[in-house]
Amino acid sequence: MVKFPTNFLWGGATAANQCEGAHLEDGKGLSIADAMPGGKERFKKVFAEDFDWSIDASTNTYPNHTGIDHYHRYEEDIALFAEMGFKSYRFSIAWTRIFPTGLEETPNELGLTHYEKVIETCLKYNIEPVITISHYEMPLHLAKEFGGWQDRRLIDLYVKYAEVVIRRFADKVKYWMTFNEINGALHFPALSLGMVPSTGSTNKQLIFQALHHQFVASAKVVKLAHEINDELKIGMMTIYATGYGMDCHPENQVANMEKGQEINGFCCSVQALGEYPAYTERMFKKYGVQPLEMAEDDLALIKHHTVDYIGLSYYMSTVIDVIDPDAAKVAGNLTGGAKNPHLPTSDWGWQTDAIGLRIGLNELYSTYKKPLFIVENGLGAIDVITEDGKIHDDYRIDYLRQHIEQMALAIADGVDLMGYTPWGCIDLVSASTGEMSKRYGFIYVDKDDNGNGTYNRMKKDSFDWYKQVIATNGEVL
Ligand code: BG6
Repeated sequence: MVKFPTNFLWGGATAANQCEGAHLEDGKGLSIADAMPGGKERFKKVFAEDFDWSIDASTNTYPNHTGIDHYHRYEEDIALFAEMGFKSYRFSIAWTRIFPTGLEETPNELGLTHYEKVIETCLKYNIEPVITISHYEMPLHLAKEFGGWQDRRLIDLYVKYAEVVIRRFADKVKYWMTFNEINGALHFPALSLGMVPSTGSTNKQLIFQALHHQFVASAKVVKLAHEINDELKIGMMTIYATGYGMDCHPENQVANMEKGQEINGFCCSVQALGEYPAYTERMFKKYGVQPLEMAEDDLALIKHHTVDYIGLSYYMSTVIDVIDPDAAKVAGNLTGGAKNPHLPTSDWGWQTDAIGLRIGLNELYSTYKKPLFIVENGLGAIDVITEDGKIHDDYRIDYLRQHIEQMALAIADGVDLMGYTPWGCIDLVSASTGEMSKRYGFIYVDKDDNGNGTYNRMKKDSFDWYKQVIATNGEVL
């Protein structure tokens, strides 16, 4: 039996702010990612009461400023992706290359020209570009002066930007996503919404209001894109973390149900079903959130312009234990949780769980009935160059193999899965820590956490492995 459809979009994923570098080149403005300090303390610093988005190079490093220099080396990088046989390349457009502060009337042509060249390079190799319109990199100006997405004016500013890029590339790019990990708003509002404690990120009322603005903005872009070309496929993008109650205690199960609704369900309901879910009122009550401010046609827009597919990132599962407050804890990209005794953890404490992916895919597909696209998955690990000058990343191969096996099972379950673009197909700057040493790639980049290195590219063992996976359409793992 064939495991994967013939048109399956095997590929890889990156984001502009984590790989391009060239942070002020060709008219680019500063983005929120440019103001994120590097190092394990990144989130601690950004979540501090006094964080105000100022860039202070005397006390911090800013690894996103240089990234992996993909801005200048995209041709070399895409050639390597082509060598692996990629059918798709998911990348983001940096909003600030097109509208440096977000407020300009006319777009920056140099920014558009750059992405035109990136897209053309993909197409030359028959690689389908998959574009994230906003991936944790909104203009810094909008975060500082508008307080991020809590300000309703962001809707029109975002739609203006999205319209420019969609109109420009509609004849070359079919697959788009409006916001990366939209559900991250509740957990890391700095990245998702451009809001920090000093501008209200600890206020859930403002957070949900900001999220509502993104829902409306996304629906407007879906509408617009379909008017431009009804063949375009516009997706949402959510973090999916399969959840388990620690045991069969009903209290743990109900806690898991509620957590799943908040994390995995809420945004999907709005963007894929076109409705705030039935549990919204209960959830708002829990957080002391009053009814949101809405314009007259907001709910109609959301209702009538749902997404064409659901893009998801999947790295881990979580466990909740409300019975035993002393249960051992682990870290996570969304929320940490109790330790699952049956699962391994990554070097960064994320609980890896391939079977959880099959559960998640089934859950998402049966609930929302939209095609699914795994646009992020992977293992952040420390890679070591061994004496033979190579990187033998068997651990990464094992991780990916197990997840691909579960994808095949999910397809056999009846899930409509469009493609798979593992995260950081080339090593890049970590979003949560700003480290280079947290590597996901099939391709190693010679740059360390202090920014030293040649930036040269080198194939890891996983490069040849993934090449074979794609060449056999997932038959040989
Ligand atoms: C996702 C983000 O949450 O996880 C990416 O969309 C991010 O931007 C990825 O890089 C992995 O997280 P991290 O913190 O290991 O880079």
